[in-house]
Amino acid sequence: MSRAVRVEGLTVAHGGAGVRARGGAFPALEGVDLELAAGSFTALLGPSGCGKSTLLGAVAGFVRPAAGRVAVAGEPVTGPGPDRGVVFQHYALFPWRTARGNVEFALKRLGLPRAERRRRALAALAEVGLADGAEKYPGQLSGGMQQRVALARALAAEPEVLLLDEPFGALDALTRVRMQELLRRLWRRTGLTVLFVTHDIDEALALAERVVVLGGTPGRVLADHPVPPGPPDPALRELIAARLTQPEAADV
Ligand SMILES: Nc1ncnc2c1ncn2[C@@H]1O[C@H](COP(=O)(O)OP(=O)(O)OP(=O)(O)O)[C@@H](O)[C@H]1O
Ligand SMILES: [Mg+2]
Repeated sequence: MSRAVRVEGLTVAHGGAGVRARGGAFPALEGVDLELAAGSFTALLGPSGCGKSTLLGAVAGFVRPAAGRVAVAGEPVTGPGPDRGVVFQHYALFPWRTARGNVEFALKRLGLPRAERRRRALAALAEVGLADGAEKYPGQLSGGMQQRVALARALAAEPEVLLLDEPFGALDALTRVRMQELLRRLWRRTGLTVLFVTHDIDEALALAERVVVLGGTPGRVLADHPVPPGPPDPALRELIAARLTQPEAADV
């Protein structure tokens, strides 16, 4: 099962809705509309500071809109929930818990019995190829393995929407490609609705079925392109690259 995400007229002002009125900073996002079809894989691309994490945070329920709304499967988002799994660049694992312990701990707030937490944690770790590392501590795992634990932690709650914020940004090139392949396989198998934030155009094109470019101050949607299956299309890459470097010339 997967769920559609609908973002309508989303405006976010960090520090409160009255920031601009007081002569302070502009909103981070203004009037953003975005619909993610159930089971789709969308990359959100844009320069640093354009509001990518803010948008992902609003879907996750960490960030409150000043205006507009976010809905998942038609239900307004009012805070974080188990229907949405989140993976960040910094995996934030507890160093004193094993891989399994980290995943189990994240399931506690779902009120699942201990045996069910264990079953789900082991299944999620197997899903990300880390069955053998379940009893290891983060300090005994490579960066790629730690990010697999963070992915398992997000999956173990059995979400329908997976939100990833530059999840592979800290990994070396080879590990990064392996993680990209893992994520693609996982998405194909599960049919999760995926929103993947990156500032790497090649990563966006390699992974997603659709690339949305965010930019400007405040951030808004500047371009929205389907990505045809098959090898990367140089013309599409050029089009998106141009949009990234000339953020004012919006074409949507
Ligand atoms: N907690 C916060 N308090 C105040 N301002 C914030 C906060 N978080 C983000 N901002 C501001 O909101 C704007 C958008 O930030 P955001 O982190 O969403 O950008 P981003 O596109 O994710 O950038 P990056 O690629 O560097 O991660 C920036 O101007 C940033 O300084
Ligand atoms: Mg960010």
